[in-house]
Amino acid sequence: MESLTLRSPESRTKQGRGDVAAQARGKIGPEANRLQAQDRVVHDWYRFVLSFPPHLVRDYVRKFEIGPGACVLDPFCGTGTTLVECRKLGLNCTGIEANPIAHFASHVKLDWQVGPGTLRSRAESVAEAVLAQLDADGVPDSCDPLFDRKPHVVRLMMLNLRESQLLLENSISPRPAHKALRLREELSTQFGKRLQDHARLALAKTLVFSASNLRFGPEVGVGKPKEDASVVRPWLDNMRSMADDLRVLRDNPRTSTAVHAADSREVGGLFPAESFDAVITSPPYPNEKDYSRTTRLESVFLGFVRSKEDLRALKRTLIRSNTRGVYKADSDDSHVAEHSEIQRIAAEIEGRRIELGKTSGFERLYARVTMLYFGGMSRHLADLRPLLRPGALLAYVVGDQASYLQIMIRTGQLLASIADSLGYEVVGLELFRSRFATATGEMLREEVVVLRWPGYKKKGARRNREHVGDSKLKS
Ligand SMILES: C[S@@+](CC[C@H](N)C(=O)[O-])C[C@H]1O[C@@H](n2cnc3c(N)ncnc32)[C@H](O)[C@@H]1O
Repeated sequence: MESLTLRSPESRTKQGRGDVAAQARGKIGPEANRLQAQDRVVHDWYRFVLSFPPHLVRDYVRKFEIGPGACVLDPFCGTGTTLVECRKLGLNCTGIEANPIAHFASHVKLDWQVGPGTLRSRAESVAEAVLAQLDADGVPDSCDPLFDRKPHVVRLMMLNLRESQLLLENSISPRPAHKALRLREELSTQFGKRLQDHARLALAKTLVFSASNLRFGPEVGVGKPKEDASVVRPWLDNMRSMADDLRVLRDNPRTSTAVHAADSREVGGLFPAESFDAVITSPPYPNEKDYSRTTRLESVFLGFVRSKEDLRALKRTLIRSNTRGVYKADSDDSHVAEHSEIQRIAAEIEGRRIELGKTSGFERLYARVTMLYFGGMSRHLADLRPLLRPGALLAYVVGDQASYLQIMIRTGQLLASIADSLGYEVVGLELFRSRFATATGEMLREEVVVLRWPGYKKKGARRNREHVGDSKLKS
């Protein structure tokens, strides 16, 4: 194996560990997770802003010496970066994702058996029909004021009230929304199920990146509302580049791929024992990011979330990484009740809150969500163990955070410590990139926690052990 060096606990906790190697690879800085031009194929069909990049997956496939026949798991697969990259490399892979739109995206991005010619020609005729319909409505797709006429339609098409109330306010203006709904209507009648999935994914991308008023910085927000935007033309461009990608990929060897809509804290019964040789993943971090909010517009337009109840049910399946998704009955915190470092951080956050006189409902939850996050990750790591072949290597990409009243949370170190308590071997913490947090004056590290599952022989790795305490790695 190339450069997986076992480091002492002391060296792992020092600032600067792994930096030299990472700098030598030229991977530190914001450009480290940007999608490179040569990686656009499939990855670009629809992806989260700042998803981890395909080159990181390649790096760990190579380091872990994962070869044909092996199966890679991504238990938080999001929009499928690990899965798509593994498939491109001819490897078997399985994903788990709890957010339905992300699960859908991963599923479609692994379906390369669709005929590129049919996809393209069907898309062109649908686009033609919708363009004509929009002209007739008086809402031309071109948004060219010269050709703009008074709408002939009695009123613009809209989502129903229950659905529009789920959207971030002003996240899409009425005219682009009308165009997207016309296109959606046409897709449901003009495409068979297989092609329809690809067409709907292209619509998801169009909604976010062309039609909406959304801004990502990296958190989702709403920018200055634009009165109008093209929808059909960018959608057709997305469909054409999908068809081009499918043509390129047609001769790739088939591999075994699957994506499961499930909660990664409860994976025990989902797969046979010892199914996986490696894990490459980027789980959520305790950073207030709400994945159900980031993906709200396309989730609602594509019908994955239709009501507040749907939204609540979706949030309940996610690792608690933000205060908007905490529920009274949550109990994942009990899994880290004996972890003194996590308890210390939670107490410090709560102490700072009281000291600063912060009393909002969200602020009162900062300490609790931190414990719930690590408790949830602990449940996941515990449940995963029987599914791993002895000797399996795991890479978890996580970032340090200081989102809660500027109290530092060294996410990678804490996860490594939890994993150690559960019987995993901690191979190392490798720097992926870092950024300076002006508020705290400290470097926030995004790093890869590299673990090895030795099998159940190791003392302390009992099957039912789920409540973790401190390990030798605690900082
Ligand atoms: C950092 S993102 C992963 C991004 C991914 N690497 C990609 O290529 O898009 C984390 C993902 O974990 C998902 N997630 C959160 N909690 C989950 C859970 N309990 N089970 C499964 N997926 C979960 C989120 O919905 C989100 O898509």
